[in-house]
Amino acid sequence: MAKEKSKKAHIVSLGKIRDKRGNLSVVEEGGSLPFEIARTYWIYDVPGGEHRGGHAYYKSEELIIALSGSFEVEVSDGKEERTFRLEHCDKALYVPAGVWRQLRNFATNSTALVVASTPYSARDYIRKKALFIDLKNRGEI
Ligand code: TYD
Repeated sequence: MAKEKSKKAHIVSLGKIRDKRGNLSVVEEGGSLPFEIARTYWIYDVPGGEHRGGHAYYKSEELIIALSGSFEVEVSDGKEERTFRLEHCDKALYVPAGVWRQLRNFATNSTALVVASTPYSARDYIRKKALFIDLKNRGEI
């Protein structure tokens, strides 16, 4: 994928290196990643019916991968909502800064790997949807 940033969430194909021993996929700066990696975290053991996310970031961009199992990511740019189902570990969802996201409908034993462009900062979170919409309407994010 090209290095330029997109304002919209979209699926990135990571590719799959296959041989008789199995498959291998890669996330690498300068490759399928449109940002430099500052942090990686993963979400797992999500009880049935639980949601994760439910926020946006001021600055952080993320790539989300279903390393195992499957789940949905609902994204909103304040006008349009889209739902992506992640279920293949050679596909990632790129989520730019300033996009509301919620992860839901986790299958049992799913693992969501998240690669982020910033270190963790509680101040980077927009946790109230009304504030998010307001900031969007004012063009501040
Ligand atoms: P949170 O981002 O709210 O989780 P999610 O968006 O997946 O529902 O984070 C849950 C808790 O973990 C919260 O107390 C902050 C902490 N946390 C870190 O300490 N470092 C991190 O990199 C992340 C993502 C969360």
